[in-house]
Amino acid sequence: MAKSPQEEHPQKAFGWAARDPSGILSPFHFSRRENSPDDVTVRVLFCGVCHTDLHSIKNDWGFTRYPIIPGHEFTGIVTKLGKNVKKFKLGDKVGVGVMVGSCRSCESCKQGLENYCPKMMFAYNSIYHDGTKNYGGYSNMVVVDQHFVLRFPDNLPLAAGAPLLCAGITVYSPMKYYGMTQAGKHLGVSGLGGLGHVAVKIGKAFGHKVTIISASPNKKDDAIKRLGADAFLLSTDPTKMKAALGTMDYIIDTVAAVHPLGPLLGLLKVNGKLITLGLPEKPLELPIFPLVLGRKLVGGSNIGSTKETQEMLEFCAKHNITADIEMIRMDYINTAMERLAKSDVRYRFVIDVAGSLSE
Ligand SMILES: NC(=O)c1ccc[n+]([C@@H]2O[C@H](COP(=O)([O-])OP(=O)(O)OC[C@H]3O[C@@H](n4cnc5c(N)ncnc54)[C@H](OP(=O)(O)O)[C@@H]3O)[C@@H](O)[C@H]2O)c1
Ligand SMILES: [Zn+2]
Ligand SMILES: [Zn+2]
Repeated sequence: MAKSPQEEHPQKAFGWAARDPSGILSPFHFSRRENSPDDVTVRVLFCGVCHTDLHSIKNDWGFTRYPIIPGHEFTGIVTKLGKNVKKFKLGDKVGVGVMVGSCRSCESCKQGLENYCPKMMFAYNSIYHDGTKNYGGYSNMVVVDQHFVLRFPDNLPLAAGAPLLCAGITVYSPMKYYGMTQAGKHLGVSGLGGLGHVAVKIGKAFGHKVTIISASPNKKDDAIKRLGADAFLLSTDPTKMKAALGTMDYIIDTVAAVHPLGPLLGLLKVNGKLITLGLPEKPLELPIFPLVLGRKLVGGSNIGSTKETQEMLEFCAKHNITADIEMIRMDYINTAMERLAKSDVRYRFVIDVAGSLSE
């Protein structure tokens, strides 16, 4: 008979898990594997709440393995080292993002793009090499292969910096890959949530004019005053949308739900690029005329490699970029998820895991 999650491994662990598609999270005892020679044990301090966590606990995509402990942007302290680990020492400040494993031998892995490895292992809801399921960062400790552990720059705060490990790299990587790093362009950021607000900050750091495209009029003041965007475009206002036709070089689209791409394509100049990062549960329609007639491009992007994530952390440290966070206790998580579903967060919940994980 299969062992219970509590008995599978020697290291006792504790977190909050969802048991079914209601997505309600509650205390959960389980276990973590013993450190293999390349493993690092991290005591989790802070963990961001990504919309992917919400999609996952609700089984939006149909492949959630319950029970599930979400959490894939967390920071903490190294507490134990496998014997081959040279990269870290006890007490180091580190971060872990979406990826905790890959095959290390496929074409993508060889190019240092583990994030496109067909066997990429996610921080939660994946199966480890030994056949057991892995659990995420809404928990007291994790055991991760050193290759996927990031060094956290000294001047990045561990709480407000945690969301960079998913939200940050997810918007940074396409800006680099799709050639958006040369200053002086007009960048639209669609959807002002966790990913979106970091995209605004990184876009400004690359020297662009940044316009936020949002369906929430009450975010306008923040957009300009707090986040430093140059303009705010209400996507539900047809007059304003018409006035902005053909004005943007790039759009980073982070909307988490099914939405029309036509209006966004309309905002782009000829040769403009629309990069879609959101993962709604149903396909989006792609209007072909604006694409063809304007030689426009629609692309996707999945987080970033370990190397690029480290680079992004240094970039954010240099430019003083962190997430705007609302710190919560673990027992607030179910309310936080309800608010996240309504786009009611400014702009990332971060769980004070070490300070509030309780039974
Ligand atoms: N590609 C990747 O590697 C990757 C990585 C991480 C996350 N993701 C995906 O990216 C999406 C955004 O993640 P996030 O954490 O930034 O989410 P978030 O904080 O919830 O932000 C998403 C924003 O989308 C807009 N929105 C419009 N209609 C919505 C609706 N019906 N439901 C929810 N949001 C709606 C809202 O902005 P306004 O209020 O401004 O309209 C909202 O703030 C998710 O689908 C997530 O799974 C992808
Ligand atoms: Zn995420
Ligand atoms: Zn691979």
